[in-house]
Amino acid sequence: MLQSYILLALVSLMLCSATPVERSPAQIALPKPTGIYQVGRSVTELIDYNRTQPFVEGDEPVKLMISVFYPVPRQHHSILGAYMPPETAGIEDLELSLAGVAAPNGTFEKLFLHLASNEPTENVTNQTSCQHPLILFMPGQGTTRHFYQQIASTIASTGYIVVTIDAAYDVDVVEYLDGSLAMFNASLWETLDLIALNRTGFTAIETRVGDVSFVLDSLSNATLAHSLVPNLPSYGLNTTHTAMFSHSLGGATAFSVLESNDRILGGLDMDGGLFGPGLSTGTSKPFMIMGHEGYTRDNQNDDPFLTWKTIWPNLTGWKRDIIVNGTGHYDFSDYPIVFETLGITPSNQTVLDNIYVGNMKGKRALEIVTTYVGAFLDFVIYGKCSELLDGPVAEFPEVTFEY
Ligand SMILES: *[C@@H]1O[C@H](CO)[C@@H](O)[C@H](O)[C@H]1NC(C)=O
Ligand SMILES: *[C@@H]1O[C@H](CO)[C@@H](O)[C@H](O)[C@H]1NC(C)=O
Ligand SMILES: *[C@@H]1O[C@H](CO)[C@@H](O)[C@H](O)[C@H]1NC(C)=O
Ligand SMILES: *[C@@H]1O[C@H](CO)[C@@H](O)[C@H](O)[C@H]1NC(C)=O
Ligand SMILES: *[C@@H]1O[C@H](CO)[C@@H](O)[C@H](O)[C@H]1NC(C)=O
Ligand SMILES: *[C@@H]1O[C@H](CO)[C@@H](O)[C@H](O)[C@H]1NC(C)=O
Ligand SMILES: *[C@@H]1O[C@H](CO)[C@@H](O)[C@H](O)[C@H]1NC(C)=O
Ligand SMILES: *[C@@H]1O[C@H](CO)[C@@H](O)[C@H](O)[C@H]1NC(C)=O
Ligand SMILES: *[C@@H]1O[C@H](CO)[C@@H](O)[C@H](O)[C@H]1NC(C)=O
Ligand SMILES: *[C@@H]1O[C@H](CO)[C@@H](O)[C@H](O)[C@H]1NC(C)=O
Ligand SMILES: *[C@@H]1O[C@H](CO)[C@@H](O)[C@H](O)[C@H]1NC(C)=O
Repeated sequence: MLQSYILLALVSLMLCSATPVERSPAQIALPKPTGIYQVGRSVTELIDYNRTQPFVEGDEPVKLMISVFYPVPRQHHSILGAYMPPETAGIEDLELSLAGVAAPNGTFEKLFLHLASNEPTENVTNQTSCQHPLILFMPGQGTTRHFYQQIASTIASTGYIVVTIDAAYDVDVVEYLDGSLAMFNASLWETLDLIALNRTGFTAIETRVGDVSFVLDSLSNATLAHSLVPNLPSYGLNTTHTAMFSHSLGGATAFSVLESNDRILGGLDMDGGLFGPGLSTGTSKPFMIMGHEGYTRDNQNDDPFLTWKTIWPNLTGWKRDIIVNGTGHYDFSDYPIVFETLGITPSNQTVLDNIYVGNMKGKRALEIVTTYVGAFLDFVIYGKCSELLDGPVAEFPEVTFEY
């Protein structure tokens, strides 16, 4: 999404110009995940000394932050977990304020997710360890992985272990465990030169493809896996049979990983143009595109290089292309549900346009996104058929198919 590259680049440049606003201490909780499981979260940092960051000066190793959302049985106490660490929350307050959202300093710090505590409500001795499949997620360019946690935890609540991965210097901010920050390299994206943008995008996706591989390598270490997710079988996580769903630049990554990574069985691209490696070959693995209102394969405004149109004939396996009416680019993130929960949904069209969300209600956007992502994952991982994936259904009139 070129428009959002530009928007976020400008917003990030202006980070120093804000005035402090009083903050409220109240906690506001996002809805409980709707699946049959409660969800636990763990966070860690992974450093790949074999590769260097492309978007920063010097030879910094690639340093990723990941969050792991895992299903836990219902017998745990429910607790509230901070949606973002405080410093990141302050940066997001500022970014969204600059786009016109009523998010004064303190807004995102008040926001919490429903999580399962480590304390079970009763000691169940006969509990068997579960083999929930591993699913990967990467955010859009310029957007922290934290803005996808409600989606990730909703998917986890249906029985998947969802790992969200932040790519340093191509999302707005990555906050490491020691509190240090990696800020977005805006200068690379703030150009209208499509060739230059394509080059940056290509490098970003190439790097992210390496990130995905590194995360899977890391998570195949059973000791690490057990430290992140309780009650795993002794071998840890199943890293050889995974799938990836992702937003925007992450969605483009979910396409580009398919041909280079045997461990990823299928990819779902939420609203991302595909300018990355893999475009010249296509794929025979399952691949699905979810677009916002009006983003047809012929729409050169949303996709200047018409990458969806170009690749379509070279998707030789199972493929689907759906459009969700009433949405904008960021309806495939937590923005709508987050704003609705905080009571700061913009009513003014200029602001909605600035942040690329449509008029759809937050709960509905979350429901549609997670329902279709869930159907896709069930299909790729378990081979489960769903009428949702075969054409329009009365329950979701917003969703149409491009064939
Ligand atoms: C935001 O609020 C926090 C906590 O009150 C404060 O430490 C910080 O300086 C504020 N930031 C800005 C930019 O006003
Ligand atoms: C670095 O690369 C070498 C050789 O390709 C490989 O053996 C090693 O496992 C890699 N290390 C990490 C941390 O990925
Ligand atoms: C942004 O990335 C470019 C390309 O790698 C690099 O030359 C430049 O130094 C980076 N800017 C910052 C502020 O790190
Ligand atoms: C919309 O809201 C923004 C931010 O509050 C304001 O600057 C702008 O003037 C408003 N536009 C309209 C058309 O009301
Ligand atoms: C579970 O067992 C532990 C260790 O025996 C005990 O400390 C804890 O109170 C028990 N919890 C419940 C909810 O029974
Ligand atoms: C575990 O024990 C509980 C209580 O005795 C029982 O209700 C449940 O069915 C058992 N679960 C399994 C998997 O055996
Ligand atoms: C984008 O960049 C890649 C890598 O340099 C190149 O292969 C591709 O042809 C470019 N695409 C366009 C539309 O320029
Ligand atoms: C596996 O992970 C553990 C815990 O992070 C670490 O101590 C150990 O060195 C790792 N093993 C390998 C082979 O990388
Ligand atoms: C991972 O899942 C696949 C498919 O269910 C299965 O064939 C494979 O044995 C699993 N790997 C492990 C280590 O359990
Ligand atoms: C489609 O695949 C064919 C054969 O694999 C290849 O020659 C062609 O360049 C591909 N076209 C696109 C647009 O990817
Ligand atoms: C999108 O929704 C609007 C308003 O609800 C409706 O008028 C329009 O026909 C819908 N478009 C499609 C393609 O379903």
